[in-house]
Amino acid sequence: PNYFLRDNFGRTADYLRLSVTDRCDLRCTYCMAEHMTFVPRREVLTHEELYRLSLVFMRYGVRKIRITGGEPLVRKDILQLFELLGSHVKHNDLDELTLTTNGTLLSRYARDLFSAGVRRVNVSLDTLNAERYATITRLGRIEKVLSGLEAARSAGLKVKINVVAAAGSFENEVDDLIRFAHGDGMDITLIEEMPLGEVSHQRSDSHLSLVKLRADLMRRWTLETLSETTGGPAKYVRVKETGGRLGFITPLSCDFCSACNRVRVSCTGGLYTCMGNEGSVDLRAALRGSEGDAALERLIRDTVRNKPKGHSFKIESHLVKGIDRHMSVLGG
Ligand code: GTP
Ligand code: 5AD
Ligand code: SF4
Repeated sequence: PNYFLRDNFGRTADYLRLSVTDRCDLRCTYCMAEHMTFVPRREVLTHEELYRLSLVFMRYGVRKIRITGGEPLVRKDILQLFELLGSHVKHNDLDELTLTTNGTLLSRYARDLFSAGVRRVNVSLDTLNAERYATITRLGRIEKVLSGLEAARSAGLKVKINVVAAAGSFENEVDDLIRFAHGDGMDITLIEEMPLGEVSHQRSDSHLSLVKLRADLMRRWTLETLSETTGGPAKYVRVKETGGRLGFITPLSCDFCSACNRVRVSCTGGLYTCMGNEGSVDLRAALRGSEGDAALERLIRDTVRNKPKGHSFKIESHLVKGIDRHMSVLGG
C-alpha cells in the first residue's frame, strides 16, 4: 500500500464493508419497515464501479472485504464481483473476501462462492422455530436458510450464525441455537439490536442486554474467554460443553469503538466511517467524474481521517437515541 487509512484517533481501517444493494427478499422487523422504498437502480454502483472502488481501498491497505446488502445475493450477476475480488485473495492482496447473508440463496451460490475464493460466511438466523422465523422476517421460510446452511458447509465454507438477540422468547431459545450451531461446527454470534431507522416496534421494548444474558448463560454453560478475533467487533468465548465458539456483539452495553478497524460504503457509493453516526460522504460523483482516481482517493483519505470517535446509540428504558437510516442501507 502507498498509504494507510488512519484517523485522528489513531485507528487504522483495513476492513471494508461494501454494500451491493439495499434490496432484500426478507423484511426482518428489526431491520426494515414493513413497506420500504428502495433506491432506483441507476443510482446503484455498477460492478465496475464497485470493483474500482475496492481497488482504491486495497491500495490504501484494506485487507478484508465483506460484501453486504440488503441481501447481497439478490443482486443480479453478483458472482462476477466475487470473482473479480476473489482473484486478489488468490494473489494474496486480500486476506479475506466474505459476505453477510440471510442465507436464503446459499443453496444456489455456495459452491460458486467457494470457487471464487470465499472461505467463510456469516448467516443471519435468529430462531429455529419456523413460525417465529416467519414472523421475524415477514417473508421468509426457514427451510430455505437451513438448506442454505447445509449447502454452505458441504461446499467447504466456514459458517457463523448471526443472531439478533431480542427480549422476549429469545432467552428460552438461546441454548437451542448454541447447540444447533455448535453441533454442526458453526460459530454463533449474539448481537444487541441497534436503533437504526423507524421500525414497527419500540426499540426499548425489544432491547436485551447481552451483558445480562451472558451472566445468565454462565449459570448453564462453562464459558472460557478467548482472545482470538475474526476482525469484527465480536468478543468470543469457547463453550466448554460443546467445544464451539460463541461471540457477543455489544454496541449498547459495552463500547468497542476504540478498536474500530472498518469503514463502509453503501450501494450508491456513500462512504460511512461509522454506522452509528448520521453523516456520509458521496463517492459516486468522484467515481463518475473526470478526474480518474485522484479525486476519489483524496475524498477517501480526508473522510476517513475525520472518522468520529464512536457511535451515538443509546437505549435506556424509554429513552432511545438512534439513527435515521435503516440497517439495510449498509447491511450492518
Ligand atoms: P466477522 O468478520 O465474522 O467478525 O464479521 P462482523 O461481525 O464484522 O460482520 P457481520 O456482518 O456478521 O456483523 C455482525 C453484526 O455486527 C451486525 O449487526 C453488524 O451491524 C455489527 N457490526 C459490525 N461492525 C460494527 C461496527 O463497527 N459497529 C457497530 N455498532 N456494529 C457493528
Ligand atoms: N441491530 C443489530 N443487528 C441488526 N441486523 C439487522 N438489523 C439490525 C439491528 N437493528 C443484523 C442482521 C445481520 C447483520 C448484518 O446485522 O441480522 O446478521
Ligand atoms: Fe434483509 Fe438482512 Fe435486513 Fe433481514 S436483516 S431484512 S435479511 S437486510
